[in-house]
Order: sequence, then C-alpha cells, then structure tokens
Amino acid sequence: MRPNRRRLGWPALAVAGAVALTGAMAVQAQGESNTTDEIAKYRQMLAEGNPAELWEAAGEELWKKPAGPKNVSLERCDLGKGPGVTKGAYAELPRYFADAGKVMDLEQRLVWCRTTLQGLTEQQAKATPFSSSGKRSDIERLVAFVTGESRGVKMNVKLDHPEEKQVYALGKKMFYYRGGAYDFACATCHAVDGQRIRLQDLPNLLTDKGAQAAYTTWPAYRVSQGEVRTMQHRLYDCLRQQRFPEPAYGSDVITALTMFLARNANGGTYDGPGLKR
Ligand code: HEC
Repeated sequence: MRPNRRRLGWPALAVAGAVALTGAMAVQAQGESNTTDEIAKYRQMLAEGNPAELWEAAGEELWKKPAGPKNVSLERCDLGKGPGVTKGAYAELPRYFADAGKVMDLEQRLVWCRTTLQGLTEQQAKATPFSSSGKRSDIERLVAFVTGESRGVKMNVKLDHPEEKQVYALGKKMFYYRGGAYDFACATCHAVDGQRIRLQDLPNLLTDKGAQAAYTTWPAYRVSQGEVRTMQHRLYDCLRQQRFPEPAYGSDVITALTMFLARNANGGTYDGPGLKR
C-alpha cells in the first residue's frame, strides 16, 4: 500500500452529493459569491474519498497486466526515470526522450510504450482516449495510476535539453495565439487574476500560484461527468471553448502547451488526480 494513498469513503461521498445538491439550490437564491464557497466545501468533503482512487487501482492493474500482440506488461516502460520507475515520474514530465528523439508528455509516452513494448499499432494505442457512456478508456486509467505515483512530489520540469526549451517556447506562443470566431487565446481567459466565466473562477496560469494550483490537480475526477479526465481532455475542452479546431489526440501542440503549463507549475507539490466539478 502506498503511504500517500487516499482512503475511499463511499458513505461520505453520498452525503456530500446530497449536500452539494442542496447547496446548488441555495446558491441560485443567494447569488454567485456563494457558488465558490459551496464548491470548496464540496471538494473538501469529497477529498476523503475521491472516486479517482478506483481509476488509479484499475490503472495499476492495467500497467501490470501482459497485453498486446507481444503479451508483455508496461512494467518496463521508461517514463524518464528508468524502465519501470513510476514514482515521481509525472512530476518531471513533459521531458525529452532520447529513444524517441522528442519531448513527450505522459500520454504520448504511454502510446510510445504500448506500441514499442506491447506491439500495439498507434491507432490501437490511441483508441478511446476519453471515455464516454458505455465505452471505458484504458488511457484514463493508466494516467490516473501513473500521476497518483507522483502525489506529494514537487513539480520539477526541466528545460535543459534544447528540444525542451523549444517546446516550451512553442507552448508559450500557443498560449498567446489568438484566433477562432471570438479571436480568443488561452491568455484571454487565463492571464488575469480574479476573472470569471459562468460563475467559474478562471485561474491565472501565468502566476506561480495559479499555475501550480491548476496543474497539480489534473488529471481529475469530474463530478459533472462521472469520469477521470486527463490533461489532454482539459486542453481539448478549453480549445473547444476557444472555438479552435479539435486537436488530434496526443499531438505535439498539446504537449507544447502542457510543457508551458507544467514548467510554470514548478515548485508546486503534485496532488492529483484531483477532484473538479
Ligand atoms: C473562453 C475562456 C477560456 C479559454 C479561451 C481557455 N480556457 Fe481554460 N478554462 C476555462 C474554464 C471555464 C475552465 C474551468 C474553470 C473551472 O472549472 O473552475 C478552464 C480551466 C482550465 C484549466 C484547469 C484549471 C483548474 O484549476 O482546474 C487549465 C489548465 C486551462 N483551462 C488551460 C487552458 C489553456 C492552455 C487554454 C488555451 C488553449 C485555455 N485554457 C483556454 C476557460 C477558458
């Protein structure tokens, strides 16, 4: 049992759900300042029994189970700290991988390991990146397991390799790149303190505090969706709000954005998978 594992508390979960519902109704009457309070309370209550724990456990099983045409497990997958090392690996991603000759985020690296080690085709390894009703995603489970292995570890994303510097610069450029029907950039919504949209606080991802609070709590169990969503999904969702074209799953542009966000979160203690509305 990992020492940093959270306890599951299903009774607490049910109670919290009921409270949140009542809370939501009260909020309509009392105005928006209470929304944030209610959400904070909800999160605090659920923190004792984040359902993401179930995804973590399922992901660990998938990690250790022989699979694919080569019938091997992912236990020799090198996430950057050596074959098979999962502890603390996520806190140093994205990073440059010499074997692939490029910078990869966790999700690209998992595709790499599933193709090179297990012999899956890229298409098979990228199938169902996001679960939908009746269609579960192995990727979400694997990601929940690997990220959970960095809980309590300080974010330490390096820009030592020239490729890492370049990818970070590209991510930064993307962050400020305006376009689409509204002429929005990430910066339009995420570069000011105290901005809100539809009652949701928009984190300022350019401050240490804002970047750390956001990055260290993803992936997250989304209460509204009943699923653990990965960073790829978060960015996909924001690009949709930005009215940008849908990015290909595991594309280099998403890795660049992730590099920018992850590096800005350096020094923050990783605390995912988190819990979000
Ligand atoms: C139209 C406004 C808008 C744009 C543009 C936008 N986002 Fe978001 N973003 C949101 C909203 C709304 C949330 C959810 C906030 C919440 O749940 O409280 C969010 C959440 C996030 C989060 C998670 C924050 C957390 O603490 O959970 C990250 C990271 C993020 N956005 C990154 C980006 C990036 C990178 C871009 C550019 C590709 C982008 N966003 C573009 C509106 C936007």
